[in-house]
Amino acid sequence: MSDTVADALRRTAERLEAAGCESPRLDAELLVARVLGMSRAGLYGESRLALSDEELAELEQLMSRREDREPLAYVLGEWGFRRLTLTVDPRVLVPRPETEIVVGRSLALIAGLEEPRVLDVGTGSGAIALAIADEHPGARVTGIDVSGDALDVARANARRAGLSVALLRADLFEGLPDGPWDLVVANPPYVAPDEIDGLEAEVREWEPRTALVGEGATETIASSALGVLREGGALVLETASGEARRIAELLRSLGYVDIGVTRDLAGHERVVEGRRP
Ligand SMILES: C[S@@+](CC[C@H](N)C(=O)[O-])C[C@H]1O[C@@H](n2cnc3c(N)ncnc32)[C@H](O)[C@@H]1O
Repeated sequence: MSDTVADALRRTAERLEAAGCESPRLDAELLVARVLGMSRAGLYGESRLALSDEELAELEQLMSRREDREPLAYVLGEWGFRRLTLTVDPRVLVPRPETEIVVGRSLALIAGLEEPRVLDVGTGSGAIALAIADEHPGARVTGIDVSGDALDVARANARRAGLSVALLRADLFEGLPDGPWDLVVANPPYVAPDEIDGLEAEVREWEPRTALVGEGATETIASSALGVLREGGALVLETASGEARRIAELLRSLGYVDIGVTRDLAGHERVVEGRRP
């Protein structure tokens, strides 16, 4: 096995490319940086540094997990989301960049409120709930999830971030917790069962099925939220690519006002919002 940073990067990237990983060089950099306990940027001045046998053995272990197409976030055990670093493992969905936009819209909609009451439905790792609590001090945030495993991860993330949010086990199909909430936000499971086979291995084989597939979840949240939002309270939903217009129409037909759609970084319409009149 090679023993300099440059060699390790090249070999790792080659193996990850052969395994079908989408961004092998970036993944290689993050894995080598992890083993060396440095930042990715820090690697650049160290290309001739020799890796010890222990470091090479650890790299081999991480690399082979990634070769099995385990998501990079699970291999690293943590992932950045807005200002937070969250612990992630196969009990929870890996937080996505488009969900950062959901948080951005949520923060905009509660901006004028000192102590807004916020409900995050399907909190998973706690990403949305914790980012809102972090970026709107004063917000009183509750996250619910049907998965006890996910809630354990969310609790660990709350402790890690030093943030206080209420985390409750609840099934969205059995009704939402009583409000009145100033904001209900959700990144619900929105993959259709017949779409699963077409997804990349990282998602299909590793991420929790409950986090991906949940037929009718978006529609149920949209109609139930009307019963627990205060008048003028806002709903923010992440949607599948290509679904935002349909969900915006649904909100309109349910009686929501001030309906808006926001694009993700790739330019796709992904976030839908509305207000209870
Ligand atoms: C797409 S993930 C979103 C996770 C996290 N909010 C995020 O944005 O990264 C959907 C979450 O909804 C939860 N969920 C699925 N069905 C549910 C249900 N019936 N009631 C409550 N939560 C549910 C899953 O366990 C999962 O954590």
